Amino acid sequence: MIILRTIAELRTHLANFTHPAFVPTMGNLHDGHLALVRQAKPLGDVVVVSIFVNRLQFLPHEDFDTYPRTWEADCEALEAAGCDVVFAPSEKELYPEPQGFTIQPPSEIANILEGHFRPGFFVGVCTVVMKLFACVQPRFALFGLKDYQQLQVIRRMVLQFALPIEVIGGQTLRAPDGLALSSRNNYLSPAQRREAVQLSQALQFMAKAVQSGATDLPALEQQAMDALTQRGWQPDYLTVRCRSNLQSPAVDQVSRLAKQAGLVILGAAKLGSTRLIDNLEI
Ligand code: PAJ
Repeated sequence: MIILRTIAELRTHLANFTHPAFVPTMGNLHDGHLALVRQAKPLGDVVVVSIFVNRLQFLPHEDFDTYPRTWEADCEALEAAGCDVVFAPSEKELYPEPQGFTIQPPSEIANILEGHFRPGFFVGVCTVVMKLFACVQPRFALFGLKDYQQLQVIRRMVLQFALPIEVIGGQTLRAPDGLALSSRNNYLSPAQRREAVQLSQALQFMAKAVQSGATDLPALEQQAMDALTQRGWQPDYLTVRCRSNLQSPAVDQVSRLAKQAGLVILGAAKLGSTRLIDNLEI
């Protein structure tokens, strides 16, 4: 495994390959990230993982400064998972001047859900992913279903800009109790860690209700949010959406979409000061 810090070195090295498979990350890697690396291995002739904590996608009050940086452990884990190239540019390398050009994703997909609660988040994500794509020029790019809306937004960006990249989604890896693995789980106290599984359980509760015929989604969503609030959470949203566009389904479409695997339940909630997200396709 080789570690490269500049775009020039990366370009030189990748000139020897035709089908790079690329996994962008912000580091502090866990099994969810590593599963994407393993999934990438048989696809490409070289597996590239980027580690870059992207300031552009954090709001001023968010955790950019405290985001966990675990460089040594990340490199060890990547080597064991079969990564060939780690691209870890400095901020000065990737953003040598203020990034005045940005990617503005369409508001109907990027200003809802995560984009509503974290304004500008998807501008930051799309801009850095576009730039990383320009650096790596991958044939395949892998993103986790854990960040469901992010995957959708990136798919749409690749489609609309006709980028010659196949975007591949990876299943969400979970702890044995069901909590989706996330770098932000490290912020949880032991008591919060025990409580954290309630988010995925709330999604499962909603899934069962829809599968048993519930069609009043606003009432169901409110019930699930109230239940989490009573346990001390501050939910941002718990909502049933169409997989295809992340919009709310019409009442008369709920049962049909549930039968045709056309729905996804998405949730985001704060436990203390830690914000967790999760989702469940049904
Ligand atoms: P990061 O949060 O580090 O996640 C990197 C990739 O790992 C994303 O595609 C994410 O969906 C995936 N991932 C995270 N947790 C996962 C889990 N439990 N199971 C499977 N995959 C999981 O997402 C980002 O970084 C950034 O926004 C980035 C795309 C790198 C742009 O800065």
